Amino acid sequence: MVERASTNGLQITQPYLDWRRLPKPILGLAPMDGVTDSACRHLQKKYGKPALVYTEFVAVERLQVGDWALLKDLHYDESQRPVIAQIYGHEPERFLWMAVFLCELGFDGIDINMGCPAASVVHRGSGAGLIRTPKLAQEIVRAARRGVELWRNGATVHDIPGLPAHLLAQVEARRNALSAPFQARRPVPVSVKTRIGYERPQAREWISRLLEAEPAAIAVHGRTLHQRYRGAADWEQIAAAAETARGSCTLVLGNGDVRNYEDAVQRAACYGLDGVLIGRGANGNPLVFRPDAEDLLAAEPHLLLRIALEHAQLHEETISKGHPPRFLPMRKHLGWYARGFPGASYLRRNLVQTSSAAEVEALLAPYI
Ligand SMILES: Cc1cc2nc3c(=O)[nH]c(=O)nc-3n(C[C@H](O)[C@H](O)[C@H](O)COP(=O)(O)O)c2cc1C
Repeated sequence: MVERASTNGLQITQPYLDWRRLPKPILGLAPMDGVTDSACRHLQKKYGKPALVYTEFVAVERLQVGDWALLKDLHYDESQRPVIAQIYGHEPERFLWMAVFLCELGFDGIDINMGCPAASVVHRGSGAGLIRTPKLAQEIVRAARRGVELWRNGATVHDIPGLPAHLLAQVEARRNALSAPFQARRPVPVSVKTRIGYERPQAREWISRLLEAEPAAIAVHGRTLHQRYRGAADWEQIAAAAETARGSCTLVLGNGDVRNYEDAVQRAACYGLDGVLIGRGANGNPLVFRPDAEDLLAAEPHLLLRIALEHAQLHEETISKGHPPRFLPMRKHLGWYARGFPGASYLRRNLVQTSSAAEVEALLAPYI
């Protein structure tokens, strides 16, 4: 990820995300709303070492309304780099200013969600709704890229129209806390995550329209919007997307139903892809990204339970901090971690009733 950038012939060391230089196949953690929060990404990165992680998707409208929770949802720590912020919406202008905002926060990449099937999102023409309006989808990619360019030319949070003072102050504080290379006005690539079609699979038509806007990468989930999560992901359509992009400046990643490292590598090779994103397969199992997962588990059979405790502790210190503490979102993770060994279902039943990391520790003590 660390590349040398040249400015007027002067070589400077500047870390930035260059999709084309990531080792292939690129294995990334797919964004999952309500799942891949900062604590989750931290543990996935620490134990699974995916090449990329994405935030949960964030609505671009939240910027101008001054949503207090926005910066909480866009929290990340340095260990997660390269970390990509995923955003959604339907008004290009808002993507432009959100891009400036995200660059100021030090994100390594910006990803535009064109795959969410939720009715509340699609009805407004956002998420997978954009598959029906390819011209608007292109405008949005271009607007986000213009935002990055504005920022590279000196724009700051102060230039964002109508940004509430409290957000402005918080972003400045975060920006000042970044180390120098991440404060630098480096190139921040804009990518897209989408599906193979709206009502019917139409990867070739849709991806060729997206390519006109030259995103750095397109991650393709092999289902249509209408399928939501039903049926199996269609990897032939994903391969068609990759073939359509061949020779362009855009990388293509496949996504859908990948369950382990070998499967990911095999699919990338078989379908001509630059990489693969794994979502649900990583739930409670960061080792899904690792070629040596079996060896690690043979050496420490309850490694995942040790990771579960560390996750619960970090969740408590970060996400669930406050009054009252919100430990509830951690419970589903605990259920996912406790699988595949004698007594797992009994342990799981108890874990999903915990309200603190201390309670989790007491339950896991016999195992780790
Ligand atoms: C609970 C949940 C939340 C999701 N949230 C997002 C999201 O915020 N952004 C996005 O692009 N995709 C989201 N997805 C889709 C996943 O990124 C991925 O495309 C899909 O789950 C298929 O991949 P998988 O079979 O590896 O899970 C979500 C999926 C799930 C199950």
